[in-house]
Amino acid sequence: TPTVTLGIFGGGTVGGGIVEILSKKQSYFQQLTGKNIVVKKICVRDASKPRDFALPEGCTIVTSYDDILNDDTIDYAVEVMGGTTDAKDVVMSALQKGKSVVTANKALIAKDLPEIEKLLSSLDSSGTQFRYEAAVCGGIPVIRSMQSDFVGDTIQQVSGIINGCTNFMLTAMDRDKKSYEDALAQASELGYAEADPTLDVGGFDARSKLKILMRLAYGMDVDEDEISCRGITELTKIDFEYAKTLGGTIKLLGVASKNDKGSVSAFISPCYVTNDDPLSSVNGATNAIEIVSDNLVSSIYIGQGAGRYPTANSCINDIVALAKGDTTPLPFNPKSETKFANNYESVFF
Ligand code: NDP
Ligand code: HSE
Repeated sequence: TPTVTLGIFGGGTVGGGIVEILSKKQSYFQQLTGKNIVVKKICVRDASKPRDFALPEGCTIVTSYDDILNDDTIDYAVEVMGGTTDAKDVVMSALQKGKSVVTANKALIAKDLPEIEKLLSSLDSSGTQFRYEAAVCGGIPVIRSMQSDFVGDTIQQVSGIINGCTNFMLTAMDRDKKSYEDALAQASELGYAEADPTLDVGGFDARSKLKILMRLAYGMDVDEDEISCRGITELTKIDFEYAKTLGGTIKLLGVASKNDKGSVSAFISPCYVTNDDPLSSVNGATNAIEIVSDNLVSSIYIGQGAGRYPTANSCINDIVALAKGDTTPLPFNPKSETKFANNYESVFF
């Protein structure tokens, strides 16, 4: 049986999940793809750190990026280490070397999308792919759906709960009366928070995801900093009490919406949500995205937005698609002339 060989950058929450699922489903994936999918190397920061997953037979832990990048027997690079500096070098270099890349790194995509796209279009080999299903809303297959299910449709609005860590925290603060600090500590322990949780609580992780969704929905590249962004750091018990008195709760929402002139506005902000709104009962690390469009009217995606197995599941779907030789999805929707007109400042309280 032919083999496809993986080098994984990152052996933490997501990396460990990928290794576990690949081991568990090895023979099924072989049947499905006609190939043995083998993890050859995992690159981490600290090789002596104990790992909470079993290392596959023959797989070695390395600490130098080049151990993977310069290994010509490695076909795919899986980038699940996070950050935007080294991760960028690793992704660009892997693509240049003809290795297809699977990543969960929304911060990187949101920041360096144009450069990644430029490189992808300059590559000789059309077989070298870049896949990133896990980058938006962890386990929800929303990217694949936006790449393939809306070709004949026109998207008017994308909105919802797009950060699992903060939704977990808001649920814990509202329902379980936890303090902000305890809720954040628990979210980190469960693997929902980013290495730097400021990205979550400040709304910046959600903003990166919204930017990617806007590229998919409208073909537009927005400077992330231009998207109005408020996180949950200023919320206190009293806010939840007020919301309850009014018959609702508070959710951190991301919204990108076309106005009647055809330009798009976007924001990230805690919002009051009434109890009869379906979003009010989306709790824990669950995410929910609604896409409003001309043909499908309203499509709602609900699922686990963070955590080891949901996120690894999306990476696995990308890896298996590559191994099957699936080349169908375009990386991003073609660019359009849609304008960004941010006029949402007024939603902030
Ligand atoms: P973790 O912090 O759990 O794991 C990161 C891993 O990468 C660790 O094994 C770490 O090594 C390694 N690493 C970090 N920096 C370096 C470096 N400079 N050189 C070598 N190795 C490095 O992160 P997650 O698994 O949670 O997240 C990884 C990526 O997935 C991020 O981009 C995140 O945004 C994204 N993501 C995460 C989700 C989640 O729910 N956790 C959901 C969706 C996306 P060591 O173990 O030695 O420290
Ligand atoms: N920290 C992110 C979140 C991980 O909580 O949504 C998934 O993207």
